[in-house]
This record gives sequence, C-alpha cells and structure tokens, in this order.
Amino acid sequence: MDKYLQNMKFLFNPSSVAVVGASQNPGKLGFHVMKSLTNGGFPGKIFPINPGGQEIMGISCYPTLAACGDMVDLAIVVVPASVVPTVFQECVKNRVKGIVLITAGFKEIEDPQGAVLHEQLAAIADRAQIPVIGPNTFGMINFHARLNASFTPEFSLLKKGHIALVSQSGGMSHLLGFLGIRDNAGFSKIVGLGNRLNVDFAQMIEYLCEDSQTKAIALYVEGIDDPGSLVEKAKAVTGRKPIVAYKTGSAHVGDQASLSHTGSVAGKHDIYLAAFRQAGIVTVPDSQQLLDVAKAFAYCPIPRGKGIAVLSGQAGPGMAGSDICEREGLEIVSFTPQTQAKINSLLPPLALRTNPVDMGPAWYDASAIAGIVKAVMDDDNVGGILLFMMFASANVDAVSGMADLLKSWNQRKPVISCMLSPPGIWDEQVCELEECGAIVNYSTPERAARAMAALCKWAKMTRKNKG
Ligand code: COA
Repeated sequence: MDKYLQNMKFLFNPSSVAVVGASQNPGKLGFHVMKSLTNGGFPGKIFPINPGGQEIMGISCYPTLAACGDMVDLAIVVVPASVVPTVFQECVKNRVKGIVLITAGFKEIEDPQGAVLHEQLAAIADRAQIPVIGPNTFGMINFHARLNASFTPEFSLLKKGHIALVSQSGGMSHLLGFLGIRDNAGFSKIVGLGNRLNVDFAQMIEYLCEDSQTKAIALYVEGIDDPGSLVEKAKAVTGRKPIVAYKTGSAHVGDQASLSHTGSVAGKHDIYLAAFRQAGIVTVPDSQQLLDVAKAFAYCPIPRGKGIAVLSGQAGPGMAGSDICEREGLEIVSFTPQTQAKINSLLPPLALRTNPVDMGPAWYDASAIAGIVKAVMDDDNVGGILLFMMFASANVDAVSGMADLLKSWNQRKPVISCMLSPPGIWDEQVCELEECGAIVNYSTPERAARAMAALCKWAKMTRKNKG
C-alpha cells in the first residue's frame, strides 16, 4: 500500500492529535477545535500548540510541534494563512501523517497570492505524501474513533452509525449533520473537503469503500476541477457500496457563488448529473433526500425486485406513497393467491384488501395487523415493504403490536416506514425499532417511498454490475 493511503488511515484514526493555533480565547476557532476534541472524548493524546500558551482546557501547551517530543499523527491547523507554509514544513519534519487545514484565504480569494500559497502547500504535502483535508474547511469527524477534528463541538451530539458524508461545503455539512439528529440518522464520518489540496471526492470514495464502518456514501458536490477522477473512481466501485449525490449549482449564479466559496466553478450541471448516473451514483434533488436516501442505503438490505407492497393504517398515506412508487417506476405488485386469501381473512370486505392495503379496519386488533404484515413479508412477489401508520388514539397499540414481528423479521426484505404520532407517544418505540435495524422510518409517506425507489435503483445497478 502506498504511503498516502497508509497516512489516510492515520488521518482518520490517529493516536495523537496536535492543534496548531490552539487558544484559550473563545473568540478564536482554535478554542472551539480544542473543545471539539476534549468534549468529543477523543481517547488519544492531545497536544495544544501555541507559542504563548501555558495550559489550554487543562492540557499542557507546547510552543511548537517539535517541542511535543512525541509522534503526532494528525495536526489540525488553525493559524492565519501566511503562517501555514512554515507549519506544513514543521509537520513534514516531525513526520506528521495527516493534516486538517481549517484556515481559509487560499485559492478562493481574489488576491492571486492565495492560489500561489495553495500550490506551495500542495507541493509540500504531496512530496511528503501527507493527505490534507481542506484548506477552508470546518474539519472532519470520525464518529467511530470519537475524533471530532472540527471547530463545532456539537457534532459530537450526532449518532454514531454507517453513513459517510463527504461535503464540499461546511454549511451543508452542518445542515445535514443536524438534520440527521432530528431524523435519527447515524454517521460514520463527516468530512468537509473545502478547497481540496490533495484529498478530493475521488480519494474519499476510494478510502471509504475500504472503510468497514461505512455502508453508504453521501456526497454534496458544488463543482470540482477534475470531475473525471470522481466518476472513474465511482465506476470502479459500482455495486460495492452505494453512493448518493446531491449536486448544486444548476443556476448560472451558482457558478459565481461556488467559485468564491470553494475555488471551483460549478460547471455544467446536467453533464455532472449524467456522468454521476453513468458511474452508478444515485442523484437526488435536495438535501433532505440526500440524507433520506443515504439512511436507506446504510440501513436497508437490497430489495430483490421492484415489486413493492404498500401497507397503510389509513388509505390516504398509502395512496400518497403509491403515487410516488408509480412515478419512480416501482411496481405495486399483486399478491400471491395465498397472501391475498390470508389478508381477506383478516380484513372485512369493506376495506381495500389488495395492494395498496388499507389496514384501517384492523386497528383494534393488533394481531390482525401483524398477520397481514407477516403474510406480505412471506410473499415472493414482494421485494420491499412500505409500512405506514398514523397515530389516532384508537390505534395506540399498533406499533407495539407489530414490534416483535418486525424485530424477528429483521428486514430480510427492506421495511421502510412512516409511523408518526404526536411527540412522545410512539417516538421511543419507533426509535428502538430503528436502532435494532427492524425498520427505517421517515416522517412522511412520500419520503419513505422515495427512499424505497432509490434503494430499487441501487439494486438494479448492483445486479447490472454483477452481470
Ligand atoms: N503556531 C501555533 N500557534 C500560533 C502560531 C503558530 N505558528 N501562530 C499563531 N498562533 C496562535 C495565535 O497566538 C492565536 O492564539 P491566541 O490568540 O490564543 O494567542 C491562534 O494561533 C490564532 O492565531 P490568530 O493570529 O489570532 O488568528 P485567528 O484566530 O484570528 O484566525 C484562522 C486564524 C485560521 C481562524 C483564520 O485565519 C481563518 O482562516 N478563518 C477562516 C476559517 C474558515 O472559515 N474556514 C472554513 C470554514 S467552512
């Protein structure tokens, strides 16, 4: 394995971290980086570096990297741009293995000196084969290593899980991360690429494909200098790990915003989308869907066909979900005669008993609902199940009545749900079902159906890839 790839492993799993520009002053980003590391519970050694500091957050300070007298795996750099080349040279001298460069003021600024500085840093890092996240980044988090290498300590509130988010924007990383708290999504890593000195989307895809903690890769892309390498890398791994991407910059004004944001022109939006699709990347049109699809990719099995069953406690949500399924090319399948007979025995004739099934008349009988769900689970025509239940007081036991069945079934086929109640009634039960992998839940039937459609698209790509 080459040194760069080896160093990527240290970058994300360091034993020791230095913060160059650590500060006691809450008005400095170096203070917040220290808070992220300590509050996040990083178990390795932390070296605050500040020429004038004594102690920061109870940890002895060092004037320089060299003074640490110990091996530093990762350096997080938060000093002004003009100082960064010297810091990089010190990193090389002290055999630092990876760098997170938070500092801005490089090729995204109008002053051409910014681009010159960028090239200078790239030359130093490339020669030593040190991977650098940034510059102009909020940082990165490896949740499985309890490493919050960012200036936002609150990222440590996120749930550890299997979605890796790689984003060109710090703001979108924050948005998606905090949306993830609300949506009970678990992350393996969140990486803000910033201006991409030598770690770009392509390098991250390559690394994350080998990362056992990552089951799905979510990309937020604005514009990149070398889209070809992303596409090539994604093509090479098609079928191994699902990738979903949200690309912004379709409006012309986005090009200018992107240029001043992370130093790249967004480029021809449609060409990007077509190339992504060709490379086996599922594309989505907004940030909520990026998270929704990533969650389904990370926590659902691959459906064995595009035949979908829609089981709903009320007819309306079932219709809304079915509309999306049809629009997305999924098939609301006919059940086998055995399944249909079973459902007919559990539901009165006044109900909609064929797919999509309205389970409303069985509300008062949790065992009847469980019986319908079980029959559909066992139906060979069904590749995935959409399960909707809106709370209505009389059906308060509906979720607990299905819980054992859902847990023991353990998504042998994907079960994507929308179980929704006023806060505090079903939340804990739904959360527990998600935690044990029995369902993946969304707050609307449309979101659930779109996630199922993305899963089916990914399944199709995987099958194609296997020939
Ligand atoms: N080694 C170690 N520490 C050093 C140092 C060096 N060579 N040179 C300076 N420092 C210390 C300073 O003493 C200071 O700490 P103190 O105030 O506690 O003494 C600290 O590093 C920061 O230096 P300072 O000159 O005060 O800079 P700053 O905090 O005002 O700005 C950045 C530094 C990196 C935050 C700023 O240049 C920057 O890039 N901001 C934008 C970051 C950003 O937006 N990133 C993208 C987000 S998505």
